[in-house]
Amino acid sequence: LPIRASSVVGTTLREHVLAGMHAAPGATGQFTSLLNHISLGIRIITTRVRAAGLAGLLGYTGDTNVQGEQVQKLDAFANDVLVNVLERSGHCGLLASEELDEARFATNSGKYVVLFDPLDGSTNIDTNVSIGTIFAILRRRHGEIVPAVEDALQPGRRIVAAGYALYGPSTIFVLSTGHGVDAFTLDPNVGEFFLSHPNIRCPERGNCFSTNDGNYARWAKGVRRWHDWIREENKEDARPYGHRYVGSLVADAHRTLLKGGIFAYPADTKSTKGKLRLLYEANPISFLFEQAGGAATNGEKPILDIHPHELHERTPLIIGSKADVFDYETFASERR
Ligand code: AHG
Ligand code: MN
Ligand code: MN
Ligand code: MN
Repeated sequence: LPIRASSVVGTTLREHVLAGMHAAPGATGQFTSLLNHISLGIRIITTRVRAAGLAGLLGYTGDTNVQGEQVQKLDAFANDVLVNVLERSGHCGLLASEELDEARFATNSGKYVVLFDPLDGSTNIDTNVSIGTIFAILRRRHGEIVPAVEDALQPGRRIVAAGYALYGPSTIFVLSTGHGVDAFTLDPNVGEFFLSHPNIRCPERGNCFSTNDGNYARWAKGVRRWHDWIREENKEDARPYGHRYVGSLVADAHRTLLKGGIFAYPADTKSTKGKLRLLYEANPISFLFEQAGGAATNGEKPILDIHPHELHERTPLIIGSKADVFDYETFASERR
């Protein structure tokens, strides 16, 4: 049978974003251009991640970041790439990163704010386990002439787009501009992202949970009771749930988004406010879960409703299928 080009050449990320722009009244193309620059950054990071062991990019830089973590060479590289592409885009007024002490002013006239975790899953880099990049885009607060740090401290509810790249066996770019969630897979030979998972929906309930069980003794009683419950044998429901934990949020979230179930990183007696960062990790991932019909909470309220007080604020993060997140909340609040 002759192969027709239309069945071989799929929708590119660029086309998808442009189609969204044409549907939005008054769009100027700035947002499209900003996303294209982020996509470029992700493709550049991919090439280095793929050859990290050959490119001298494994191991530590010797520095400690504002989070109190040892900085890896790939953390620093990915951060530089993203800062660069965002500055070049001309549309980013303010940017903030897990790896930067303070927010950075980019282009005064840029009306967008970009918050990112340049390299997620740093502790998995040296062992060739999946890692990722996470970002959120917001509009600067209304009426301000030049960007200010407060532009970064808006609740996740105001996000206009968020996404992540997962550098797994393939590089996959998962994106929401507020109209559902789509995923694009990088064809490495062409250097282009093609739509591979249109309109992702997180199942109503799953059969898998994802936690760092090493923290069990440090969790609150309600969380421990939830964890005991989900591992109990029960003929009426899916329990005991299976267990998967990669230790890279992007990888654990991606599996949970597609297959359903729950990922939980609660507060504990060591990380009393939780470990994950509200602005760079929890907010963008929660935006994607809500857009896919899933849920995201800190155990008390939706992550997206939290008003941030500082750039590097941490939060407990529980994401997943609606029914599974609801079960967690009833235990964590000791209603059960
Ligand atoms: P990062 O590499 O960006 O600092 O993020 C690490 C995070 C996240 O990817 C993961 O979910 C979590 O840390 C794992 O923490 P534990 O090692 O405590 O399980
Ligand atoms: Mn880190
Ligand atoms: Mn991270
Ligand atoms: Mn990181």
